[in-house]
Amino acid sequence: MTSISQNAIDILRENDRGTYTVPTKGLYPFQWNWDSCLTALGQRHFDENRAWTEIETLFEHQWPCGMVPHIVFHQKDDGYFPGPDIWATDRPVPTSGITQPAVAGFALKRLFDRAADPAQVAPRAAALLPKIAAWHRWFFATRDPKGEGLVAIIHPWESGRDNSIDWDIPFDRVPTDGIAPYTRRDTQHADPAHRPTKAQYDRYLWLVEHFRALQWDTARLHDASPFQVVDPGFNAILLRACADLADLAETLGRSDLAAENRAFAARGLAAMEGLWSPDHGQYLARDRVTGQLIDSASVGGLLAAFCAIPADRAAIIAETIDRHATRYRVASHPPQDPRFDAKRYWRGPVWLVVNYMIADGLARAGQADAAARITASSLDLIRENGFAEYYDPQSGEPLGGGRFTWTAAMVLEFLSMEG
Ligand code: GLC
Repeated sequence: MTSISQNAIDILRENDRGTYTVPTKGLYPFQWNWDSCLTALGQRHFDENRAWTEIETLFEHQWPCGMVPHIVFHQKDDGYFPGPDIWATDRPVPTSGITQPAVAGFALKRLFDRAADPAQVAPRAAALLPKIAAWHRWFFATRDPKGEGLVAIIHPWESGRDNSIDWDIPFDRVPTDGIAPYTRRDTQHADPAHRPTKAQYDRYLWLVEHFRALQWDTARLHDASPFQVVDPGFNAILLRACADLADLAETLGRSDLAAENRAFAARGLAAMEGLWSPDHGQYLARDRVTGQLIDSASVGGLLAAFCAIPADRAAIIAETIDRHATRYRVASHPPQDPRFDAKRYWRGPVWLVVNYMIADGLARAGQADAAARITASSLDLIRENGFAEYYDPQSGEPLGGGRFTWTAAMVLEFLSMEG
């Protein structure tokens, strides 16, 4: 029988398009931002050089303003919607016009720290450093216009947790009138009952068309968006990336970038306190338009443990995960929530990338047992159910796309964490 580690390597090779990796054949035929950065962490276990290329390719498509787009459409493929013609971003190689969780700074540091020969990869790290720093600078300049210390997403797709319950209330504010007729493609590859609804899709597209009408001027989009949400998970990833980038910049002699990123991290960490909910024992998202915290105890607020939150907060998050416990942890929404939907994408299912970041953060915060439970549960899930895009947290049923790249990458990481 093939080991899960060999299986994971086979999947990563199968989805490799030379200089970037597709998340899975059919459903997602291009390069996705956070998928690629996390994929590199898997690739490093069998081909370090290829892992660096994955991130370098992504940054070749960084916009002059500093934004790194959420999708790079390297090749034409009609199997995906919305494609380049809908985004119409006017880039040499077409890209989308929004971004995704800024995990690159974390991934870069991990690649560097675990490199077989750090001196050999130092020039590659040094070349990526200012590019990632420019992305972080863009985030705080355009997505935190009032200098609150935390950034907002302006489209649910930016969060990476597309149809999370977290977005329901702010998303209701997004109109659906006037959008061009369209045909979805995701529901041709996966069960429509496991995907976002039509009402959500109409709103996703309304926002895209609205931003396109503003010529994708990223300095204008935040204020022009009816959807502005401060997601603790998204911010935790950015703040961790800032702190990691600062450390790496120090090592590589860029004390200017180190100071800048350290300041972003410190200010953001202080502001995270405003998202803490003692009642839920975790962080919550804030609707920036109304100023209200959103009453949804999702995995976004647990993912906050990925950045350097206070140790007592991390301990409470570990308890909250136990309290919500499903057979496979960590459910994207707890089954106790009446809106929980075990099979619908980000409204209940387990996703291995999120597990990985929560486990990493908890381990760093001294919650080694809680981290080990997530690692063990994640590997059980794969051994029992194979490599899918996401899973029912109660039955373990594999859902969405199959032979999924980042799931495979995370398995290699989890195996190495297990020791
Ligand atoms: C879905 C996920 C997103 C991911 C993309 C490619 O849109 O919600 O997080 O990046 O698929 O795997």
